[in-house]
Amino acid sequence: MDKVILKASKICKSYKNGDKNLSVLKDFSLEIMQNEIITITGQSGSGKSTALNILGTLDLPDSGLLEICGKEIKDLKENELSELRNANIGFVFQFHHLLSEFTAIENVLIPTWIKGIINKKNDAIQLFEKLNLASKINYFPNQLSGGERSRVALIRAIINKPDILFADEPTGNLDIKNAIVLIDLLKQINKDFNQSIILTTHNPDVALIGHRRFHLENGILHEQK
Ligand SMILES: Nc1ncnc2c1ncn2[C@@H]1O[C@H](COP(=O)(O)OP(=O)(O)OP(=O)(O)O)[C@@H](O)[C@H]1O
Ligand SMILES: [Mg+2]
Repeated sequence: MDKVILKASKICKSYKNGDKNLSVLKDFSLEIMQNEIITITGQSGSGKSTALNILGTLDLPDSGLLEICGKEIKDLKENELSELRNANIGFVFQFHHLLSEFTAIENVLIPTWIKGIINKKNDAIQLFEKLNLASKINYFPNQLSGGERSRVALIRAIINKPDILFADEPTGNLDIKNAIVLIDLLKQINKDFNQSIILTTHNPDVALIGHRRFHLENGILHEQK
């Protein structure tokens, strides 16, 4: 039976700037099933990153409810929330956050160390090979190009096989060849590990990866048929 992995109900979010109030998300509701790929497109500034950060528990909504893997997020204590993030959620940021004092492979393995798993190096190396990064394993982030960093960030996000992967513009920095490799990898992990994926993009071709596709406009999410 299909299982709901994430349920967002009537999420609202606005930002205050001086005496101005910018309402970014208005009653944003979305249900994601296990094994489903969802894509969200929308103009720059439409609120895609804001939505993803809230759905991924990195930011709080002003109102609304969020349930992930059957748990109501607002009821969780800080340590329970950290546990949920580490066990169930992977995140690829629009602006990658690699740790500069660690090499590419160390960055990728950090989540496995946090989880107490030690034997993931071969898995990591296979993913580096798959993403055309085999020669860059021991490079530091400042020795990598923007596109290489985003691919390392993707490997880091999927190394623990999270139930749900959030990817904010994962192909934004990539040429077409590497974008296709990355999209194929996302499709493969979705199929092999039953992972749900929620991805934002400006690129309508990339959005086609979605089993369901949405467009965010004026704070409202519209499903595209
Ligand atoms: N911390 C913040 N404080 C004030 N305003 C913010 C903040 N973060 C985002 N915004 C505003 O909220 C709106 C939505 O931003 P967001 O980053 O979610 O857009 P986006 O759809 O991801 O855009 P892009 O496609 O350029 O990445 C923008 O107008 C932005 O200026
Ligand atoms: Mg964004």
